Amino acid sequence: MRPTRALLSTGLLAGVLAAGMAVALAPTASAGTTLRASAAEKGRYFGAAVATNKLSDNTYVTVLNREFSSVVAENEMKWDATEPQQGRFNYTGGDRLVSHARANGMSVRGHALLWHAQQPSWAQGLSGSALRNAAINHVTQVATHFKGQIYAWDVVNEAFADGGSGGRRDSNLQRTGNDWIEAAFRAARAADPGAKLCYNDYNTDGVNAKSTGIYNMVRDFKSRGVPIDCVGFQSHLGTTIPGDYQANLQRFADLGVDVQITELDVMTGGNQANIFGTVTRSCLAVSRCTGITVWGVRDCDSWRGSDNALLFDCSGNKKAAYTSVLNALNAGGSNTPPPTTPGSPTTPPPSPTTPPPGTGG
Ligand code: G3I
Repeated sequence: MRPTRALLSTGLLAGVLAAGMAVALAPTASAGTTLRASAAEKGRYFGAAVATNKLSDNTYVTVLNREFSSVVAENEMKWDATEPQQGRFNYTGGDRLVSHARANGMSVRGHALLWHAQQPSWAQGLSGSALRNAAINHVTQVATHFKGQIYAWDVVNEAFADGGSGGRRDSNLQRTGNDWIEAAFRAARAADPGAKLCYNDYNTDGVNAKSTGIYNMVRDFKSRGVPIDCVGFQSHLGTTIPGDYQANLQRFADLGVDVQITELDVMTGGNQANIFGTVTRSCLAVSRCTGITVWGVRDCDSWRGSDNALLFDCSGNKKAAYTSVLNALNAGGSNTPPPTTPGSPTTPPPSPTTPPPGTGG
């Protein structure tokens, strides 16, 4: 409620402002004790990849709702899931996840509109302009369906080659012409102007040939007005982390895009907790790093199987890695990223003052 002119003129302004700030700054009941609350205090989201068939698992859902303020579909928004036959779309899994997110105060990352993997078989059989047209139609249809529901889309996933070339990966999409990525970004912007549009990739955890190839593409896109808002760093990590992890995030942020940690998981072992902590501190140190997503909830939910690469054990208990992340989130002062323009989210990460609903904890 706005203070009235009379109230202001009686000299109560200072008191009103002080009261308002007290409300704004008051920690929520669970501030500092869950990933979502602690990340929110720093102006970030903390997310997890979700397999919707696990939303009927009580342990899974309890941890998910208590700890995470963002979700991404591990598979259900990919091309093979959303357009199993050409022109026939299936949004069942994606809609279910969006609905769960809305009910629990979570934002949604969209993953992924175009990728060389997990294409439906009909798309794998196309080439040239038929494939290009089908791919752009896919972007348009899917981004339109989820319009207003997605905080950030991985518009293009994993389009760069591993190794030292710094160039594009060969794929059926790449063979339609080098401009397929920018065409996808333009189509996504037209379909959902409120979503942040990201390029997402792995093995980009430091300054290396692959991350530099992507860096050059982003710089080129920004200079030519191709609509790109963010870069996702998957961060599927082993037993070490490059010393320039944070510097690499920062150089992308300096191009004028947000950065996000999008698929974090770390090989088990002595360094796991430290590496999770380092990633978290690195994100907090980069003002345009808007959030972190781990690629699954419990170790047994992970695509990495016996790597035990996540923050919770198979029973849903917090691991040392969890404590390391939470401590990193709780350390230091507030470091809120600046608001950004196009693609400013229509479903932003929950505000720090919003208590996590349905947490049970
Ligand atoms: O849905 C079918 C099911 O019908 C069938 O019975 C079963 C038999 O194997 O397969 C099921 O599909 C599997 C799907 O996960 C859903 O469980 C696929 O075989 C399997 O390949 C697929 O793996 C996913 C993988 O992407 C595919 O590339 C993982 O769950 C998913 O975690 C992983 O995620 C990727 C990101 O999208 C991009 N970055 C790397 C990351 C890890 O690989």
